[in-house]
Amino acid sequence: MSHEVVEKNVGLMAVLIIAVISVAGLVQIVPLLFATETTQPHEGVEPYAPLEFAGRDIYVREGCYSCHSQMIRPFRAETERYGHYSLAGEFVYDRPFQWGSKRTGPDLARVGGRYSDLWHYVHMMNPRDVVPESNMPAYPWLADREVNGERVARAMRAQQRWLGVPYTDEQIQNAPSDLEGKTEMDAIIAYLQGLGTAVQHNR
Ligand code: HEC
Repeated sequence: MSHEVVEKNVGLMAVLIIAVISVAGLVQIVPLLFATETTQPHEGVEPYAPLEFAGRDIYVREGCYSCHSQMIRPFRAETERYGHYSLAGEFVYDRPFQWGSKRTGPDLARVGGRYSDLWHYVHMMNPRDVVPESNMPAYPWLADREVNGERVARAMRAQQRWLGVPYTDEQIQNAPSDLEGKTEMDAIIAYLQGLGTAVQHNR
């Protein structure tokens, strides 16, 4: 039997295994090279405004991703709780993306608009003031630190130049004045309030 030949010949088996894996890999990878839904922004998705942009960097700096995912999976238990499942085209301006799989806290992909700015402020200053059983750390220093507008402008410029994010030169030039007097707390709240709001399906 031909099957027996394969089973008794390690070299042939290795070649056939590689062939199977290669074809299976190509079947997964090649369509993605042509699928625009993973590389084009979903309708309504815009590059981060300067304040949100700054907030996103703070989110990364503070390691919020170590407890929060930003990826709603297409399961009923998730969509009932968080809203419409996440779509690839919502993340095209996320560099790096914050999908994650660690959920000590809730998923944040659609937290935008769920609470008021004031709620977020109180929650960030001390989560236990609004959610008594919370084990999220407090981040009070964000309220004391000013956003560095020049740095944000430079980072936006880099994304425009090297990653093709469609910022206009004007948006970048205006970033430092837009951000004048803004604290890191303002920035992270603006970022959180924008999360997932571009796509409103069943919420
Ligand atoms: C040690 C884990 C941990 C870290 C780190 C953490 N969180 Fe949380 N977070 C939680 C938990 C647990 C909850 C749920 C209880 C609560 O609301 O405080 C939560 C809730 C939240 C909520 C409310 C979500 C909702 O739908 O009710 C927001 C917004 C939030 N976190 C933002 C942040 C941000 C921004 C950071 C980083 C600056 C951060 N978290 C860091 C654990 C964490």
